[in-house]
Amino acid sequence: MGKSFHPIFCILISILTISYAQDCNTYTFSKNNVYATCVTLPVLNSQLHWNYHPTNATVDMAYRQTGVTNSQWVAWALNVGGSGMVGAQALVGLVRSNGSVQAYTSSVTGYGTSLQPSGLSFDVPRIRAEMINGDVVVYATLVLPTGRTSFNQVWQVGPVDGGAPSAHQMGSANKNSVGTVDFATGLTSDDGGNVGGSRRRRRNTHGVLNALSWGVMMPMGAMAARYLKVFKAANPAWFYIHVTCQASAYVIGVAGWGTGLKLGSDSTGIKYNTHRNIGITLFTLGTLQAFALLLRPKPDNKYRFYWNIYHHSMGYTVILLSIINVFKGFDILDPEKKWKKAYIGILIFLVVNTVMLEAYTWFIVLKRKQEEKKAYPGNGYSQSA
Ligand SMILES: *[C@@H]1O[C@H](CO)[C@@H](O)[C@H](O)[C@H]1NC(C)=O
Ligand SMILES: *[C@@H]1O[C@H](CO)[C@@H](O)[C@H](O)[C@H]1NC(C)=O
Repeated sequence: MGKSFHPIFCILISILTISYAQDCNTYTFSKNNVYATCVTLPVLNSQLHWNYHPTNATVDMAYRQTGVTNSQWVAWALNVGGSGMVGAQALVGLVRSNGSVQAYTSSVTGYGTSLQPSGLSFDVPRIRAEMINGDVVVYATLVLPTGRTSFNQVWQVGPVDGGAPSAHQMGSANKNSVGTVDFATGLTSDDGGNVGGSRRRRRNTHGVLNALSWGVMMPMGAMAARYLKVFKAANPAWFYIHVTCQASAYVIGVAGWGTGLKLGSDSTGIKYNTHRNIGITLFTLGTLQAFALLLRPKPDNKYRFYWNIYHHSMGYTVILLSIINVFKGFDILDPEKKWKKAYIGILIFLVVNTVMLEAYTWFIVLKRKQEEKKAYPGNGYSQSA
C-alpha cells in the first residue's frame, strides 16, 4: 500500500505543477519562429504570441490552442468595432478528420455563422496553420487597422461537422473567452474591463504551486520517511524518496513563495498580513530543514538523537503551518469552491492513509518485537531497538 505511491506521486505532481507554471515563452515553434511577447489567455488552453512592428503597424502572430482533436475548429479574432462574437474578424484553423489543418479568415456577421471563408476589415497578408501533438497553431500577419494597438479579442473552439465548422459548446469557458489585447504594451485583460489577465494568472500560479508543494508534496514526503522506514526492503530507498519529495517540494515551494511576494508587493490590505508572515516563516523553516540535512550527524553519533527531535518537530511544524496557510490563501484568492473542496479531499485522503499506515507500522513493529523475544528469550530488549 505505502510501498509505491509516494515517489510516483511526488514526481508526477512536480511535473504537473512545473508544466502548469511554465511560462508560455518557452514553447518552441516549428520553423523556429520566435515571438517577443506571449500571453496565456484565461480560458480554453490558449496562448497568443506575437511580434509588433510599429514602423508598419503590423503584427506577426501565432495563436496556439492545446488539446485539440481531429474534426475540430479553433478561431481567434479581433473585434475592431465592437466586442464579442458578432463583428469578430477571425483567423480560423479547421482540423479535418484526417488531421490536416486548413487556415483561413472569416468575418463573423451573426450568431448563426458557420465561419465560412471571407475577407476581413483589415489586411492579413499571410496565414497558415498546423497541428502538432494536439496543438493547433495558426500563424498570421495582421496589418493593424485605424492606427490603434489595443483591441477587443475573442477566441473559441468547436466541432467540425461534414467538413464545416458548427456551433461551439456553451460552457463557462466558451462564454468567457473574450477580453482585450494591446499589441504595443503586451497587456491583456478579461472581459474588456478589469485589467490583469496576467495578474489573475499570477494569482492562480501562486495558488497552485504553493498548495501542491507545501500543502501536498511535503506531507507526502514526511509520510514516505515515516512509513517506508518500517519495511526492511525499503532501506535506504525511503531516505532517497523522502529527500526527492522534499527537495522538489522545496524548489517548487520557493518559486511559489516568490510569486506570492510579488503579488503581495503589488497589493495592500491587512488581510494578507498573516498569510504573508506565515509564508515567510515557512520559507525560513523550510530552508533550515534543507541545511539541517547537510549537518546531519551519523546514525551512531550521540547528537543524532537531538538532531532527530529537531528535524521532526521542525518538519511537523512546517506541515501544520503549510496547511493553515493554504486555507488562508483560499480565503484571499477566493477561487471557485471546487478547488477548496479538491484540496480538502486530498487532505482527507492523506489522513486516511496516515491512519492506516500508522496502524500497520505499529502492527509490524510489535510483531517484530515478539519474534525477537521468541528468538532471544530472556532478553527483553531487541538488538535493533
Ligand atoms: C514590417 O516591418 C518589419 C520590420 O520593421 C518587417 O520585418 C516586416 O516584414 C514588415 N511587414 C510587412 C507586412 O511589411
Ligand atoms: C485530408 O483531407 C483533405 C480533404 O478533406 C485533403 O485536401 C487533404 O489533402 C488530406 N490530407 C492528407 C494528409 O491526407
